[in-house]
Amino acid sequence: MPNLADAELRRALANRVRFYNELGIYDFYRRDAAVLADSTAEELDPSLNLALREPEMREEMPARKSAAVAAVVEDGVETLAPKPEQGVKDPAAALRIIREDLGDCTRCKLHKQGRKQIVFGVGNPRAELMFVGEGPGADEDVQGEPFVGRAGQLLNNMIKAMGLRREEVYIANVVKCRPPGNRTPERDECETCSPFLMRQIAAIKPKVLVALGAVAAKNLLAMNASMAELRGRFYDFLPAGARATEAWPGARLAVTYHPAFLLRDPRQKGEAWKDLQMVMKYLGLEPPKKAAD
Ligand code: URA
Repeated sequence: MPNLADAELRRALANRVRFYNELGIYDFYRRDAAVLADSTAEELDPSLNLALREPEMREEMPARKSAAVAAVVEDGVETLAPKPEQGVKDPAAALRIIREDLGDCTRCKLHKQGRKQIVFGVGNPRAELMFVGEGPGADEDVQGEPFVGRAGQLLNNMIKAMGLRREEVYIANVVKCRPPGNRTPERDECETCSPFLMRQIAAIKPKVLVALGAVAAKNLLAMNASMAELRGRFYDFLPAGARATEAWPGARLAVTYHPAFLLRDPRQKGEAWKDLQMVMKYLGLEPPKKAAD
C-alpha cells in the first residue's frame, strides 16, 4: 500500500528540486550515501536537508568532487533532473540552451541595481582556452560583451601575445550582470550566477581555463588564498556537476592577474606573462613572430 506520507514527501522533494532547477541549480550532493540509501521518510522529512544541500552551505562540500544525484521522485517514479543542455553534443547549441535557461535573469539582486543587460560570454564555443573574469563593467554592460573596455583591450593584447585571436578563445565572467559602481560581486551573487558559468565551461570543454584575478580564482577553485599563493601552477578543474570522461577529463586551471589590476600596476605584467607562458607551453602555442623589417 502506498504510504500517504511518502507520497507527500516525494511531491515536496520534487517541488524543491524544481525550485532549484528554476534557479539554474541542477546538481545536488549526497552528504553521506549510506544515510540516503537507508533513509526513511521520517529521516528526510524535517527539512529535506539530508538529501539536498542549501546553496549557502555549499562551501562545506568537498570542493568540486561532484557526484550529482539529482533524483526527482514523483508519483513513485524516480527520474533524473538533467540540465536542459545535457546530451547536446554541439557546444554552440548547448551554449544557446544555457543562455535561454538564464533568460532575463532576476535570480539575484544585481538585476535591480542598474544593469542594462546580461553579459553572457563571447567567443569560440569549441575554444581550447577560456578566460574567466569577475563581472561586467560599464562598457560591457552597454555592449553586452565581456572585456570590451580598457581592461578588455589589454586582455586582447595578452591573447595576441599568446599567438591567438580573441575569436579563438572564449571569455566569460563569474557574474553576468554589472555590479553597481563596479564593486566586487558579493558572495550570494557569485553563488547564484556561477552554476551558469559551470555549465558554460562544461559545454565548451576547454583544455585550459585562465582565472583573471582573485575573484575568478577564488570562485572557480572554491578556495580562499592570496594571488601569490594561487598563481604559478595548474589546478585540475572539473565544473561542479560535470563528470570527467575520457574525451574531456576536465580543464587545467591557471590563475593570473586581472587586466584591470595590470593597468593600475604595469610592473606586474612580467609576472602575468610568466603565467601565460605556462599556459602556452601546455597548449603548444608559440608567440607570434615579429614581422621582419
Ligand atoms: N572586468 C571583468 O572582470 N570582466 C569584464 O567583462 C570586464 C572587466
